[in-house]
Amino acid sequence: AGDVVRRERFSGGPARGFLSSLAADERIFAADLAVDRAHVVMLAEQGIIEADEAADVLTALNIVEVNGHGSLPDGEDVHAAIETAVIGEIGPVGGKMHTARSRNDEVAACIRYRLREDLLAAVEATLALRSALAEVAAAQVGTVMPGFTHLQPAQPTTVAHWALSYEQALRRDTARLFDAYGRTNRSPLGAAAFAGTTFDVDRERTAELLGFDGVVENAMDASAARDFLVESVAALAGLATTLSGLAEDLVVFANKGYVDLSDDYSSTSSIMPQKKNPDTLELVRACAGDASAGLNGLLTTLKGLPRAYNRDLQRATPHAWRTVDAVTEATEVAAGAVATATWPEEALAAAAGEGFSTATGVADLLAQHGVPFRTAHEVVALAAEGGSDAAAVEAAAAEVLDAPLTEYVDADAVAAALDPGASVESRDSAGGPARAAVDSQLASAEEALAA
Ligand code: ARG
Repeated sequence: AGDVVRRERFSGGPARGFLSSLAADERIFAADLAVDRAHVVMLAEQGIIEADEAADVLTALNIVEVNGHGSLPDGEDVHAAIETAVIGEIGPVGGKMHTARSRNDEVAACIRYRLREDLLAAVEATLALRSALAEVAAAQVGTVMPGFTHLQPAQPTTVAHWALSYEQALRRDTARLFDAYGRTNRSPLGAAAFAGTTFDVDRERTAELLGFDGVVENAMDASAARDFLVESVAALAGLATTLSGLAEDLVVFANKGYVDLSDDYSSTSSIMPQKKNPDTLELVRACAGDASAGLNGLLTTLKGLPRAYNRDLQRATPHAWRTVDAVTEATEVAAGAVATATWPEEALAAAAGEGFSTATGVADLLAQHGVPFRTAHEVVALAAEGGSDAAAVEAAAAEVLDAPLTEYVDADAVAAALDPGASVESRDSAGGPARAAVDSQLASAEEALAA
């Protein structure tokens, strides 16, 4: 009765709605039931409560689960509401559930438990996108396309080389998500408010029952730490940044006619009937804003918090949920857009040599035949001004080298260097776009995906 009186006295006023996280806690409803069950089983195993009391609590928890989050009584949060519901089902013995714990270690356990699942969904999405990119690469090893720096034609490359560049970036994003998972996957249970407990709890046991890979040792750290949210959201923000670049590339390529996006990932205009717009990918690009907002929100909320628990932490959590939802969805959408896009080979081949993109290859050719690279660069720069073709190279060589070009290199070799396809094939250094180099990148992508 004393407890009911205290609950009635505190926070029942106009700030009630502001204080309560019950609605937002729907996300951790299932997690809280799991945490409650593990805790109660441990309490019984340790002889802290009786087996039949534990059984009654577990029965009540089953009823609460079936009734669902929507049927919970009012409460400051899901933890309080579930406890009230359990007591409502089985009477005061239900209050034994909260022996040797606090909502502080409880909520931290719930967030970690739920976030694990969400991180794995994000990982799955990165794997789907990487598979889609690897499939594009496998099909487009020989599809020559323009490569850009500063958004200007730079050197010819292939669609496969482009796709694998994102596969490799995303591979690191996957690894960062797994890193965050590893440190998220630790149990804070048994920390109680922050100062441990007089009861003989078995922290390793609750950790094991909940599938955690060990405990967060220091009780004060266990209840206060949210850096696992920071690193998870940071990993997601990094992923969102990778996605934004991929989406931007596809928007630009679609604009130039280098890629044909499926209708499923395009929109039209409400007024301009001819339009096919890459809206979906623009939204993927925009998710970097959601992720950055989540990371900033978290860091700013956590900054300067004293030890140990402070209620600010309640407002930190939703930043993580919003970020993981937005970025996972964007990753899935990007995977679909990549998997369904088609690459118009002829348009790409025609564009591949635009803007004298083979110039570097011509300079390399001269340098391979004894002309210092800087001088070769000068020759080709002059040729770029004079028509960007074989005749221009010849004229520029005569002027800069003061000798006929054929003294260094024969005409066939120059013609090959000026051909976008041959130019790609000649760049066979490790990681380059030539078929052999791309084949080994593709093999590493497939191996990483299989692992
Ligand atoms: N709902 C809170 C949270 O999300 C947990 C409650 C702990 N409350 C407290 N006053 N110590 O962090």
